[in-house]
Amino acid sequence: MTAAIEVDGVTVRYGEALALDDVSLEVPTGAVTGLIGMNGSGKSTLFKAITGMIRPESGRILLDGASPARARRRGAVGYVPQSEAVDWSFPVCVRDVVMMGRFGRQGPTRRVRACDRLAVDDALEQVELTAYAERQIGQLSGGQKKRAFVARAIAQDARIMLLDEPFAGVDKRSEATIVELLRALADDGRTVLVSTHDLHALPQLADQAVLLLQKVLFHGKVDEALAPERLALAFGLDVLGRDGVA
Ligand SMILES: Nc1ncnc2c1ncn2[C@@H]1O[C@H](COP(=O)(O)OP(=O)(O)O)[C@@H](O)[C@H]1O
Ligand SMILES: [Mg+2]
Repeated sequence: MTAAIEVDGVTVRYGEALALDDVSLEVPTGAVTGLIGMNGSGKSTLFKAITGMIRPESGRILLDGASPARARRRGAVGYVPQSEAVDWSFPVCVRDVVMMGRFGRQGPTRRVRACDRLAVDDALEQVELTAYAERQIGQLSGGQKKRAFVARAIAQDARIMLLDEPFAGVDKRSEATIVELLRALADDGRTVLVSTHDLHALPQLADQAVLLLQKVLFHGKVDEALAPERLALAFGLDVLGRDGVA
């Protein structure tokens, strides 16, 4: 398996606070990789470093061999941000949000072509939001909002898909729809990195799992990641009771 995302010795600090500590990780092409870690473990920071939104203090990241900035300019990276990072009052409808995925392909004039409309309609259908296309994005339920952003990434036709907690605050139906879509994207050769708190859904969702706590604690098979002693470490609960965090 080749690595679509190569993270090599990446350290990120916010002021004094160490968010990522010498993280090295290879995310394989054509698979779903689950990113697991407690709040504050650095998951969103890792996504931002991979998209090039923040620059690490040290280390290097390559996306299909290119720098994050270059990969992003090419439209090779689709990103579904954590809900908290989105201004839901923004006056755009669902179709507009999905169309944003096409911007990178429209050239400097941003003229919408027939193929852009087709791609948007197709993506809306895949996430089952066709009937909501003209709604203002903020008027959707949590699950529908997430599906709208997944549709944006699908319309973008990105090789690499990054999803930051797409299941948080999401109804079961939306979750099932998103899981199915991500599996299909991976089977189609896309690279999917998804952070989640839903450990129950992890075996259906992911081919492999990464446990993050500033550092990579584990990267491998999902069932091994879910071993109680590993999860306890990742979530700051030492099962042997030496250093427990309440
Ligand atoms: N913009 C920021 N400024 C200062 N500290 C931040 C900022 N973003 C995140 N942090 C801190 O960095 C650490 C990692 O945060 P984050 O990557 O958001 O973790 P996660 O997504 O796993 O919850 C946390 O301690 C958080 O408080
Ligand atoms: Mg986060």
